[in-house]
Amino acid sequence: MTRIRIEILSVTHASDVARLQEMLESAPGYWMAITGKATPEKDAALNAFDTQPPGPFRSKHIFGFRIGEKMVGMADVVRGYPDETSAILGLLLIRESYQRSHFGNEAYVVIEKLIKSWPEIKKIRLSIVENNATVMPFWKKMGFTETGEQKAYQSGAIHSHTIVMEKVLAPLET
Ligand SMILES: CC(C)(COP(=O)(O)OP(=O)(O)OC[C@H]1O[C@@H](n2cnc3c(N)ncnc32)[C@H](O)[C@@H]1OP(=O)(O)O)[C@@H](O)C(=O)NCCC(=O)NCCS
Repeated sequence: MTRIRIEILSVTHASDVARLQEMLESAPGYWMAITGKATPEKDAALNAFDTQPPGPFRSKHIFGFRIGEKMVGMADVVRGYPDETSAILGLLLIRESYQRSHFGNEAYVVIEKLIKSWPEIKKIRLSIVENNATVMPFWKKMGFTETGEQKAYQSGAIHSHTIVMEKVLAPLET
């Protein structure tokens, strides 16, 4: 039985923005790996809501994962990018003190089920910064494979590249 509950976070609720910011700040190891600094920008949560990829199809959704009242993770998902039939999992992040306790696995299962309920979406794509490649076994376990695409990546002191992975979705079981 899943311990995780999913909720939609909204930029119109100041408390959601504050909770998202606190959530992002709770995973310093991730920020160190991808930016070389242990804390995200002060407006990282607002930016997460505001930053949208280009294109006509996309809509962005930010979710929180709770156990009881405690927020233990977040995910951002763009529906319809880079094409109408794809979704991008921009970030799945579990509070650092809760990592490696299968909450990421549970949160992914919940988010995949939700994405599968979007009828036009046939695959999920994501990018991993090579400096953060320790998470690759997790994504392989969730059923993702490398596409072979790579892009240069630079943030702060980190010069790296991203590794693109994708998962073709099986139809939702009814
Ligand atoms: C990646 C992340 C979401 C995984 O969530 P998690 O709760 O730590 O992972 P889980 O405990 O659910 O792991 C499930 C399985 O994935 C594999 N796995 C997870 N993290 C791993 C790691 N760092 N190294 C090797 N295998 C790993 C293991 O097989 C694990 O099963 P096991 O513990 O029984 O061996 C989490 O570590 C996280 O938030 N990291 C920081 C943000 C981030 O990097 N997000 C991904 C950006 S692409």
